[in-house]
Amino acid sequence: MLDKKVADLLNEQVNKEFYSAYLYMDFANYYADEGLDGFRNWYEVQAKEERDHAIMMRAYLIDNGVRVKFDKIAAPDAKLKEFMDPLKAGLEHERYVTSLIAEIYNAAAEAKDYKTMQFLDWFVKEQGEEEKNAEELIKKMKLFGSDAKGLYMLNQELAARTYVPSTNLPANA
Ligand code: FEO
Repeated sequence: MLDKKVADLLNEQVNKEFYSAYLYMDFANYYADEGLDGFRNWYEVQAKEERDHAIMMRAYLIDNGVRVKFDKIAAPDAKLKEFMDPLKAGLEHERYVTSLIAEIYNAAAEAKDYKTMQFLDWFVKEQGEEEKNAEELIKKMKLFGSDAKGLYMLNQELAARTYVPSTNLPANA
């Protein structure tokens, strides 16, 4: 049985991971409307990964005897006016998620819940990668995005991203 605070925080995080998927689909909607299908693809893949994070946490809770509860998913609230806006909002969001994972990790450490700490290790690493990806996107956009040809090339590069399910996903996800 999990510590109640740890279980509650993980359950809340399930909702927040679904929100992340929702937010990134909203970014994809924005880019679809702007005709940038590569950027759209990049965020659609990102949204699938976020959904997977929610599924992984849900499965962990269930496997540890917790009755998972779903709450409303908030509406995406990023203001998207320029091509750079989703990229910046994405980095800000990932930094926020990193802080949430750290909060759960700290609660698990306090409860001497080594199993959950080990489970969260994957997410700590993943957050590092996601922040790095978000930072790199911003860098590339700054370098190439103001020029039509550069933007075209960057859009093509982002169109090549493919979804790879995490090996940590439950078999029936
Ligand atoms: Fe699942 Fe990007 O946080």
